[in-house]
Amino acid sequence: MLRHIARLFTLFLALTTLPLAAGEDKAATVLVTGANRGIGLELARQLHSQGYAVIGTARKPAQASELQALDVRVEQLDVTDAASVAALAATLAEVPIDILVNNAGVGGQRVNQLAEIDFEQMAWTFEVNTYGPLRVTQALLPNLQAGEKKTVVQISSVMGSIAQNRGGYYSYRASKTALNQLNKSLSIELGRQGFTCVALHPGWVKTRLGGAQAQLEVKESVAGLVQVIDGLEPADNGRFIDFQGEEIPW
Ligand SMILES: NC(=O)c1ccc[n+]([C@@H]2O[C@H](COP(=O)([O-])OP(=O)(O)OC[C@H]3O[C@@H](n4cnc5c(N)ncnc54)[C@H](OP(=O)(O)O)[C@@H]3O)[C@@H](O)[C@H]2O)c1
Repeated sequence: MLRHIARLFTLFLALTTLPLAAGEDKAATVLVTGANRGIGLELARQLHSQGYAVIGTARKPAQASELQALDVRVEQLDVTDAASVAALAATLAEVPIDILVNNAGVGGQRVNQLAEIDFEQMAWTFEVNTYGPLRVTQALLPNLQAGEKKTVVQISSVMGSIAQNRGGYYSYRASKTALNQLNKSLSIELGRQGFTCVALHPGWVKTRLGGAQAQLEVKESVAGLVQVIDGLEPADNGRFIDFQGEEIPW
């Protein structure tokens, strides 16, 4: 009788603990900004289908029908609006976040000539692409500190690489270069707390920003990004890599 009870107990333990252990990684919470379309929407979709608890943000959640259809948590966020960022942090107080993906971004003014630069538009590009990710990371730091993975992913661009600059796109390039620099600083400060902060280039992707001529389908780029994000380790802290895990020169 005792042996029978012990066997039942062992079986109970196996049934209750094994699936938890196997799914441990996949229960992680990831927050993706700009998740209503493009790369952000596909990131939310693929991360959700892999078992992550996804929080997708949109400037206009009521209009984010494709994101809402994924059955993930949807929150309002405009990364340029301090009140919106503070409201998100208040709504998510006490919610541990394992991975923050700062994806929201704009292409900025597409001019190749110095004479054509509009400084208001340039400032706006920096507001979204550079200050936005830093503002969101600052506001959600307590959530990230409470998370297991302590990972911050900046969706950057090879266009931010000084070494590979072939001219043009003044605002966009500079906004992503500055984002890379901010990520490096974050990696040094937060690395001491066990954080992994990386800048990821998604490839040239067919989205509203990337245009129809782009090389990659969104699904293909995001499959790579998810694989890279899944495999991030503390040793990757501070790196600038692409969707295939290849190092990009600064
Ligand atoms: N596509 C490419 O080839 C490529 C290459 C390298 C890097 N990237 C980077 O990948 C990221 C995603 O770009 P994408 O190609 O998916 O572009 P996209 O289709 O144009 O999507 C941009 C996303 O950012 C959001 N967004 C813009 N301004 C925002 C703000 N102030 N606050 C919150 N969200 C805001 C947009 O929301 P709304 O719908 O409300 O505007 C949208 O969800 C960007 O950081 C971009 O720089 C893209």
